[in-house]
Amino acid sequence: MANPIKKVCCIGAGYVGGPSMTVMADRSPEIEFNVVDKNLKRIESWNSLDLNNLPIYEPGLMKLIKKCRNKNLYFSNEIEKNIALADMIFISVNTPTKTTGLGAGQAIDLKWIESCARQIAMHAKGHTIVVEKSTLPVKTAQTIKSILDSYIKKDFGDNNKNSKTFSILSNPEFLAEGTAIEDLLKPDRILIGGDDNNAIEVLKNIYLKWVNEQKILTTDIWSSELSKLIANAFLAQRISSINSISALCESTEANISDVAKAVGMDSRIGKYFLKSGPGFGGSCFKKDILNLVYICNYYGLFEVANYWEKVITINSWQQNRIVSIIVNKLYGTISGKKIAILGFAFKANTNDTRESPAINICRKLLEEGCILNIYDPKVSIEQIDNDLKNEDLSNLNELNNEKKWQVSSSIIDAVRKTDALIILTDWNEFYNLDLEEINNLMRPPGWIFDTRNIINIKQANKYGLNIWKIGNGNLM
Ligand code: NAD
Ligand code: UDX
Repeated sequence: MANPIKKVCCIGAGYVGGPSMTVMADRSPEIEFNVVDKNLKRIESWNSLDLNNLPIYEPGLMKLIKKCRNKNLYFSNEIEKNIALADMIFISVNTPTKTTGLGAGQAIDLKWIESCARQIAMHAKGHTIVVEKSTLPVKTAQTIKSILDSYIKKDFGDNNKNSKTFSILSNPEFLAEGTAIEDLLKPDRILIGGDDNNAIEVLKNIYLKWVNEQKILTTDIWSSELSKLIANAFLAQRISSINSISALCESTEANISDVAKAVGMDSRIGKYFLKSGPGFGGSCFKKDILNLVYICNYYGLFEVANYWEKVITINSWQQNRIVSIIVNKLYGTISGKKIAILGFAFKANTNDTRESPAINICRKLLEEGCILNIYDPKVSIEQIDNDLKNEDLSNLNELNNEKKWQVSSSIIDAVRKTDALIILTDWNEFYNLDLEEINNLMRPPGWIFDTRNIINIKQANKYGLNIWKIGNGNLM
């Protein structure tokens, strides 16, 4: 069947909107994709001639942008115009946790979704398929529909009355940062929820260009919205489960990597998402579980809410536990000591720091009075400063006016004259550290705190470094 879609608009040029539309544009050269955002700076970066200035770092993204940009893929802030021209509109805007008011700290702030719905309602023309790409609380489609319907009923005085119609679909995105392009090109599944079979077929046809039909699952809209939240909750739950056991391994001389391997070899359990670390970060897991907790409480399912809340409790506990271990190993005080931080992004291969465990851990270490040298291959100085600064954390040490944290341009620069080195992100380049040189540069006795389980204990010991590794009870 020929696809009736000629123009697609995506509202939100972020970590999801940018890469997902780029891959679609690459696979559907006959369709024009317009990615729009109210953030002009972000749009300018997407249009930057120097591809190193793209607003997000994702392996493989640059190549596709080079191929499609300004051919059938456009980035702009002309939101109204592109809404009016589109046959299909993806809503891919941010859906953070509410910070004030009813449900603060748990519920999703739907402000941006509502504003998209109103913009679409006002400016769309003819029949438009509206696709929820953002992760949303179950039943959000009802809110969107109610807004769209209310505008259809309204006479704008431009003879446009009732000439616009909408179909709403849910098509959550499952990509993970750092592997976004690979995930988009080879998805485990594509989920489409809705009750308009024609609209579902039209969207399905876009994916069929590169995704096998068996991987495309269609459901009712509520199951689709809820599945996305639950997928994230299950993934995060596995991380909290293995992290809770990392502490038990440390107390019992067991080894978390071996335990995870043995457990994961059971095909019913599977080997993925069993890597112990400093806790999960990223913009999704925490906010989506908090939202799940909120929804369960809303429906009076208090035990269910309490069950999922524990996933977050363990995640924070893991980070606090790591800080306590560091302070204890460094003779109970780190006041005035220099510490190197390797990795600030929430995971490797991304410049994203949202909810990064590094933020919480660095803040807690700074509260203890130490000085941090931070190195990350992709996170900018501005981002690190932004994440660490707040009203009670200025970057100047009151005692000696020395900076409390500085951003280093290399691993070697970061470790010079430090008492400890803490690995917080599993960037590839941290797997083969020159431990001999590091030991020479550190103030003895130098310590390595490896929260990602990537350093060889024997090598560290050989060069005289003390080492603590997450989930390793036996450090000899
Ligand atoms: P993001 O913050 O990177 O991007 C969202 C963009 O939307 C921002 O640039 C913002 O300026 C823009 N925006 C907001 N309201 C707008 C409006 N009314 N008009 C125009 N632009 C507007 O967010 P993201 O990481 O891309 O996430 C988007 C959604 O996808 C969220 O619901 C998130 O939970 C979900 N999701 C994220 C990931 C991920 O890995 N980041 C993965 C799957 C799903
Ligand atoms: C996640 C989901 O994986 C993705 O499907 C969804 O669309 C968005 O949220 P993302 O947050 O980008 O993706 O990355 P992910 O690979 O899931 O990692 C999240 C966090 O968990 C990172 O901090 C990572 O270091 C940590 N993690 C992951 C572990 O600590 N152990 C693991 O075994 C896996």
